[in-house]
Amino acid sequence: MTALRHSFIAGIGHYVPSRVVTNAELEPLMNTSDAWIQERTGIQERRWFEEGKDTTANMAANAARKALNMAGLAPNDVQLIVFATLSPDYFFPGSGVLLQRELGITNNCPALDVRNQCSGFVYGLSVADQFVRTGMYDTVLVVGSEIHSSGLDKSPEGRGVSVIFGDGAGAVILRPSTIEGQGILSTHLHSQGEYAEELIVKEPGSNRDNRVQNILDNKADLYPYMNGQNVFKHAVVRFPQVIKEALDQNGMQPADIDMLIPHQANLRITQYVQHKMGLSDDKVFSNIQRYGNTTAASVPLALSEAVQEGKIKRGDLVCLAAFGSGFTWASALIKW
Ligand SMILES: CC(C)(COP(=O)(O)OP(=O)(O)OC[C@H]1O[C@@H](n2cnc3c(N)ncnc32)[C@H](O)[C@@H]1OP(=O)(O)O)[C@@H](O)C(=O)NCCC(=O)NCCS
Repeated sequence: MTALRHSFIAGIGHYVPSRVVTNAELEPLMNTSDAWIQERTGIQERRWFEEGKDTTANMAANAARKALNMAGLAPNDVQLIVFATLSPDYFFPGSGVLLQRELGITNNCPALDVRNQCSGFVYGLSVADQFVRTGMYDTVLVVGSEIHSSGLDKSPEGRGVSVIFGDGAGAVILRPSTIEGQGILSTHLHSQGEYAEELIVKEPGSNRDNRVQNILDNKADLYPYMNGQNVFKHAVVRFPQVIKEALDQNGMQPADIDMLIPHQANLRITQYVQHKMGLSDDKVFSNIQRYGNTTAASVPLALSEAVQEGKIKRGDLVCLAAFGSGFTWASALIKW
């Protein structure tokens, strides 16, 4: 039996489509305004994928190559792929195997698909961490990648949801830590299925007699539905709760956090959480202004930019936290 060990993030990278879509561009489509979007969400622009160029799997691969490069590893070093997305390339198979193919991985490593929406990356990180801790795998690739823009209602009816979401990808490589005390200290996962329909894409659901006909008859259910106010209400409770849970388990205080990387749900939610935790501006990272909410991609995309911008240093205490559809919520505390 291998002794339990810590995993650490040996490499990280992100990719976003090149097409920038400003709030001004949405105004004539959705009868919305730059002022409304910025005031309610903080979002100024987001990225939309380019058909024929970007796919959920190849965006993940672009992010993964950067993470592998930073870790000094080759694609065939990967022993497990964990792929978090709510916008897979196909209904099935999951995007994990497509990412494996895209990266040219030929070692037949397992590819696991995670379906936990905005919390998907932190869930995936936790799964990967368990495999590294137990010694089953040494090199795990965890990605979050999303294409929302192809599935949004871009008419005025969809504006309450469609202004929020954007496309992007982020990836990390987990390896066993060789430095005492370095790495993922703990992860914390939760869900509450009674709110499953509060943020949902209902179709193509399987529990209808004639699934295909049902989709044709209920096209509106192919678009995301969100009870925005209820999502907001729960998010501002669950984020601080799950951050505190992580701190408590490790005998730490909010003041010990050097960088909080919250899921980029909405800048107002992040500001509320920051205030509640008593964190200064330099200890909370936000890039929702430029990318919108990229669900499973948002945490690794934000973490990757924070690292790239030199905002996280070796030895820093980094807290990842997420909340989203399910409802699901999660956190991870990392000694960088
Ligand atoms: C979505 C959200 C920004 C909406 O803000 P809100 O203040 O709750 O707005 P409401 O839905 O009550 O709508 C208020 C008004 O704005 C209008 N509106 C909605 N979307 C709009 C848009 N994009 N542009 C302009 N007006 C809009 C509504 O039609 C409504 O008009 P009415 O008062 O004439 O009926 C807010 O609820 C929110 O941020 N929720 C959390 C969402 C989130 O974080 N989701 C991701 C979780 S992972």
